[in-house]
Amino acid sequence: MVDRMQAPRGMKDILPDGVEPHFDSGLWDRILAASARTLDGYGYRRVWLPKVEETNLFARGIGEETDIVGKEMFTFERSGDSLTLRPEGTAGAARAYVEHNLHKTAPVQRWWYFGPMFRAERPQADRYRQFYQVGAELFGVASPLADAELLSMAWRWCAALGIEVAVGINTVGDDESRQRYRETLRAHWRAHAGELCANCRRRAQTNPMRVLDCKEDACSAVLDRAPDILEVLSDNARAHFERVCSLLGELGVRFARDRRLVRGLDYYTGTVFEFVAGGLGAQNAILGGGRYDNLVAQLGGPSTAAIGFAAGVERIARVMSQQKVLPRGPDLYIIPMSGAHVAAFRLADELRDQGHWRVEVDVGDGRLKKQMRRADRLRARTALVVGEDELASKRGRLKDLGVSSEVDVELTGSALNRALEKLMGAK
Ligand code: HAM
Repeated sequence: MVDRMQAPRGMKDILPDGVEPHFDSGLWDRILAASARTLDGYGYRRVWLPKVEETNLFARGIGEETDIVGKEMFTFERSGDSLTLRPEGTAGAARAYVEHNLHKTAPVQRWWYFGPMFRAERPQADRYRQFYQVGAELFGVASPLADAELLSMAWRWCAALGIEVAVGINTVGDDESRQRYRETLRAHWRAHAGELCANCRRRAQTNPMRVLDCKEDACSAVLDRAPDILEVLSDNARAHFERVCSLLGELGVRFARDRRLVRGLDYYTGTVFEFVAGGLGAQNAILGGGRYDNLVAQLGGPSTAAIGFAAGVERIARVMSQQKVLPRGPDLYIIPMSGAHVAAFRLADELRDQGHWRVEVDVGDGRLKKQMRRADRLRARTALVVGEDELASKRGRLKDLGVSSEVDVELTGSALNRALEKLMGAK
């Protein structure tokens, strides 16, 4: 017997009628369509970037000290080059911005992407080794207006997907404030070293801000008492953050300041944020992002302000499937009796041309009952049987599968188009 093959650990197939509801490709189509609509509506244009980059890009961009670069990269050698499957999309986007000299030709760029990211994490619920992100990056605008608009866009996108989120925001300050804050924190951690877990004790001196992100209960008391960055923020950084918060209020984005929010990537400067959804377990962050005003310069470009976010598609799909948001089935399922297939194909094509309807024609030769069951399973909105009688009279019965009623229709594309429009409009 030949061993059956399986997808690698932590990597999933996204199929029609997915193995689990949140791996259903129909649901993913809905997420992709809603993302394109919302982000396009704000002037973001879609980019496709390599899924593999030089390892150095991530080490320089995300930071050698981070878990992602230190422990989670899929890295390999090819012809003497060290390459890595991208663990996230921001470093590659900044690399492309610099490589194509966009700062000279069109410095303000609004980009979005949808694609797989790879992190060799220990797989667990809602944490995968290959996962998908929808991300948006805005280059070339330093104003707090950009922070507020991007956050409001992310908020409205979640609303368009029907997901309720709690928005946490913070600032990690400008370079000068961050430097001061690190020193303040180092002193605080030194004074309370005995109350920290081993991991935090190790990080307390090398990356003192990351300690704030520790989820261990043992550390929580000392973390809660840690100095707040607002105490050491420069006037500029403070004014920027206050303006972002007041703009968000005016735009109707509900948020809470989370003074322990620092994010797991080192490129952030200024505003940072995370969106959390109910219904998920420990891995409940569905979206994260912030300002990264130094990254373009770190990758060899001129000093360029930038801000962005990325959201995890698997987690969004799970929240949606829990809320019973279902993939959309065909608008019409045509069941041809023997000898009526070609007429059914023609009718389906006419209808697709007329109204961009999603029409599926049954090409099996099973019994009618079985074919109707298939229409139900696909969540088709309507069904139409086309047989000898229907072809002779040029009329058929359009069944509304949602409410089990039917209407008599002429079997032409335009008549069916009108009937479908009426039916869908009535819902
Ligand atoms: P991140 O917080 O590392 O940020 O990832 C963003 C989102 O991707 C998370 O909130 C989560 O929903 C999802 N995610 C991350 N890791 C996994 C995983 N192993 N399995 C499933 N989902 C996951 C970034 O990646 C930044 N590039 C965001 C950004 C864009 N900042 C500025 N621009």
